[in-house]
Amino acid sequence: MIKFNHVFKIYEKNIKALEDINFSISKGEFVFLTGPSGAGKTTILNLLYREDIPDMGSVFVNNEDISHISDRKLPFYRRNIGFVFQDFKLLFDRTVFDNIALPLVITKTEKKFIKNKVEEYINKTGLCGKEKLTPWHLSGGEKQKVAIARAFITNPSLILADEPTGNLDDESSWEIIKMFEEVNKEGTTILFATHNKELLQKMNKRVIRLNKGKVISDESI
Ligand SMILES: Nc1ncnc2c1ncn2[C@@H]1O[C@H](COP(=O)(O)OP(=O)(O)OP(=O)(O)O)[C@@H](O)[C@H]1O
Ligand SMILES: [Mg+2]
Repeated sequence: MIKFNHVFKIYEKNIKALEDINFSISKGEFVFLTGPSGAGKTTILNLLYREDIPDMGSVFVNNEDISHISDRKLPFYRRNIGFVFQDFKLLFDRTVFDNIALPLVITKTEKKFIKNKVEEYINKTGLCGKEKLTPWHLSGGEKQKVAIARAFITNPSLILADEPTGNLDDESSWEIIKMFEEVNKEGTTILFATHNKELLQKMNKRVIRLNKGKVISDESI
């Protein structure tokens, strides 16, 4: 489903964010991406979302080199991806309900279906009672839960999650992890960036380790 083929990403001042990255992920896999700050985790997720394109090499998703997707087709490509951004990217002038509903509103889904789905994810993420608040009135962890609910609500075939439990207490983290495991069992492919060593050990999944823009290991723990 995903293939990075000799991918390089070099920012100004010759900062090599990624250097000759090669890996493949099959449909339905659950893969962790780890490594210290600045290792290149977010850069990899951004390339997959076509937020950015490689300076050299190719990123393939479903056998398509995604650098070639036209601006017109980009929203359709992204429709199958749920992205939990490291900085959440919530709309601060909209309520929790509206933030979570957004991907379904964009695709002109029926209102009753949207209401039911949003309520389902409000319950699953433990945001009951916060529906009418704007993100200004939420804690860091609550904002993260809104970002997670918004990423899951379309039932995407690929979820890219950038440190999605970084702001959550232990109990909430495990509730959220259960959500990832459930959708993964149903066939959703997951690429999950985290620093959390305890999580990596407990989950016992494939881990791609990065350091200074290079893959230093790729194995199941
Ligand atoms: N837009 C940008 N412009 C210039 N340099 C960038 C940009 N984005 C990332 N970088 C650089 O690329 C490198 C990798 O950054 P990236 O955000 O991918 O790391 P990360 O592994 O996600 O780190 P963290 O764990 O802190 O989130 C860093 O050295 C960073 O300074
Ligand atoms: Mg990052």
